Amino acid sequence: MNPSFKKKILCIGAGYVGGPTMAMIAHKCPQYKVTVVDINPDRINEWNSENLPIYEPGLYEIVQSARGKNLFFHTDVEKGIRESDIIFVSVNTPTKTFGVGAGMAADLQYWEKTARQILECSRSPKIIVEKSTLPVKTALAMERILSSANNGIHFEVLSNPEFLAEGTAVKDLENPDRVLIGSSQTPSGLKARDELVEIYSNWVPKDQIITSNIWSSELSKLVANAFLAQRISSINAISDLCEKTDADVSEVAHAIGMDARIGNRFLNASVGFGGSCFKKDILNLVYLCRNYGLTEVADYWESVVRINEYQKKRFILNMLKAMFNTLADKKICLLGFAFKADTGDTRETPALYIAEKLLEENAKLVISDPKALKNARKDLKGVSGDISYIEDPYEAAGGCHAIAVLTEWALYAELDYQRIYTSMEKPAFLFDGRNIIPHQKLYEIGFNVYPIGKPALKHF
Ligand code: UDX
Ligand code: UDX
Repeated sequence: MNPSFKKKILCIGAGYVGGPTMAMIAHKCPQYKVTVVDINPDRINEWNSENLPIYEPGLYEIVQSARGKNLFFHTDVEKGIRESDIIFVSVNTPTKTFGVGAGMAADLQYWEKTARQILECSRSPKIIVEKSTLPVKTALAMERILSSANNGIHFEVLSNPEFLAEGTAVKDLENPDRVLIGSSQTPSGLKARDELVEIYSNWVPKDQIITSNIWSSELSKLVANAFLAQRISSINAISDLCEKTDADVSEVAHAIGMDARIGNRFLNASVGFGGSCFKKDILNLVYLCRNYGLTEVADYWESVVRINEYQKKRFILNMLKAMFNTLADKKICLLGFAFKADTGDTRETPALYIAEKLLEENAKLVISDPKALKNARKDLKGVSGDISYIEDPYEAAGGCHAIAVLTEWALYAELDYQRIYTSMEKPAFLFDGRNIIPHQKLYEIGFNVYPIGKPALKHF
């Protein structure tokens, strides 16, 4: 190893968060050696190949710039722990599926296992950085585990939640709104905090690196996601009312978004939010509130998730009603399966729910997506029904009775819909779950168009 490396950084967990975050640190800080480890050898092989395990615009370029120089991916977790000064922990913390808190609380088994492994393999003091989203007070549990051996090695735990969004991860990492670092307020806590500040200040302006107590930092991540999801659920709830009143949800969003106090982002009505974080983090917050006996507060946040479930259900019911209350044997093309554009990730994607419900109605599905077909196949494995996967949207839509746009891929707004219309069964329907298609134009071509939160454009 190059002995001139100033610090050795390790990240445990080479996922959507750990991989891009470490690639950015390595890219911006050639003086640090950055190693990313994961228990999944296939993932590590992919990180070491030309086909990275995740699709993110611009990611390959930064990985390539640093890989083999100061960025390394491997599976030897123990060696990685031994050799590092700073350890980021970015293992997944899914919603618990068993026991107390099932379906709500965070499953911390990987987290705790990792803490114990750090303790076992460490021969020198280390800074441990929580990157994964966790319930408040997890750092305390971590500290207790790490100090349980009483072996004289000091571990300082910091919270540094990641706010990157998928699809824009590289941009978000390069130019973050803020970096948040929580630490304990002891001299050693503050010293560790400063070491982490120093890493980020290689490219992030100092006034955008904010510090806080560790509990505020842990809670801020949950709250940020809850507020973002709440905006979507709020506008989605209004989309339902718009459909009943001939108001147009985009016009309403535009009008309220121009109020500087409200702001114009995250007000796009949709078929529902997805992704690995929003639902999980809100449920985590709800569970936390219930634990502290805050029933009203818990109910309030839980309703954000409930509206999201309702929005997906409403979409299906609208399709069914519009298509003469039967979908049996009708071929339906899903344009988009990823939970949002510019990613191949399908975790919690509304498209999965829509697909399952359409199959329950005995519809035949043709699923199209530029990056998510591999994950779509995995998600629908074992689900019975007539499903095909076709990347080319023209081929996918051919012979279909309806199209449902489920992901806001830019390419779907620019397709040759005349060509598509000609190849479809008539009457041809288009359900735009993302409001990205030129509705009037499609109506004029001959489609019956059903947007979200706007009057439908129908020929009968
Ligand atoms: C991250 C955070 O960890 C999560 O808490 C946050 O809410 C969302 O972002 P993400 O990177 O998206 O999760 O998860 P994932 O892509 O599943 O990556 C986690 C990685 O950790 C996986 O590659 C998994 O193999 C690895 N892992 C898991 C370990 O290396 N060791 C373990 O014990 C468990
Ligand atoms: C989110 C947070 O934005 C990020 O800060 C956090 O670190 C992780 O969780 P992500 O899940 O990657 O990021 O995607 P995001 O852009 O927030 O979108 C979540 C979902 O909301 C997607 O399904 C998206 O399509 C949907 N959405 C977003 C809407 O339906 N309407 C909107 O106006 C915005």
